[in-house]
Amino acid sequence: KRAIKVALLGAGSVGSQVARLLLEQADEYERRVGTRLELIGISVRNPDAKRDVDLPKELFTTDAETLIVSADIVVELMGGINPARELVTLALESGADVVTANKALLAHHGAELFELAERVGAQLYYEAAVGGAIPIIRPLRENLGGDRVERILGIVNGTTNYILDRMHTRGDSFDESLRIATELGYAEADPTADIEGYDAQQKASILASIAFHTKVPVDSVYREGITKVSIDEIEDAKRAGYVVKLLAICERIPGNNGEKDQVSARVYPALVPETHPLASVHGGNNAIFVEAKAAGSLMFYGAGAGGVETASAVLGDLVAAARRHLLGGPGSGESMDADLPILPVEEIVTSY
Ligand code: HSE
Repeated sequence: KRAIKVALLGAGSVGSQVARLLLEQADEYERRVGTRLELIGISVRNPDAKRDVDLPKELFTTDAETLIVSADIVVELMGGINPARELVTLALESGADVVTANKALLAHHGAELFELAERVGAQLYYEAAVGGAIPIIRPLRENLGGDRVERILGIVNGTTNYILDRMHTRGDSFDESLRIATELGYAEADPTADIEGYDAQQKASILASIAFHTKVPVDSVYREGITKVSIDEIEDAKRAGYVVKLLAICERIPGNNGEKDQVSARVYPALVPETHPLASVHGGNNAIFVEAKAAGSLMFYGAGAGGVETASAVLGDLVAAARRHLLGGPGSGESMDADLPILPVEEIVTSY
């Protein structure tokens, strides 16, 4: 069988780890998939930039388009919307399956990309877009695909969890905690996206869309970051038996008198009782607490950020894409067919 050609876009903290593991574990993947996964190139802006991992120089290119059109699977880990949107579009149009960790791209342009993927018979995988290493996309889409999700309470941003946790447990300042979170590789290139809640807002839009089988636009998700949370507030909460956590809350609001259910999604610093399982999520970890009608409460917990941890989710998608490629099977496209009304931001009430 011929090798499956994999193109990587981006070699930042996640991308460089994906490349390293793909090269180091090539024999293992060959056994698992049934054919070789060949990394044919890595497109970057600057091939000479300093990276976390030493990778063979000859793999680097600045010509993303040429790389994409030669690939069977394109792994997009460049982040940001442009040019990721154009390049993912090109990849799908040229018949490649795409693996991405790009929550901003999916939150803003997911609908258009899923539609394109369906039209061309390609598949878009995005397990790494929410919750880093934690399996949550596939569990919501597939394992809970026969249940009815009522509510999701998620700690979905490692940087803010790290900051709030340090402020709570050690009394450290916001700035010092952010500096360390950045050093640990949790924060986005511009940490404003983390501390102002944009990253969690994008993730909430993705989770709510999958959980409720509808399209929850990112700007319908209420958002408040953690920059106004003071040490005094954290201390007060602690004395009262609470922990302050940045929560993404996605909820199905039952309709009255036969009316359709509605969806509410919101992100803000919330008081979590210290007895709740989410209160013991420390450091850069994430946890997604899902309440489903038949399954009851489930919690998905683990490393929500970090290069090598997130690489695990990307590689899982890559192996799934490679197996599908080999079988030539049809994709299991997004089915966002419930078309539930989304509650406008001003009507969203705090219920936690
Ligand atoms: N900056 C993100 C976080 C990375 O802190 O969770 C993972 O999406």
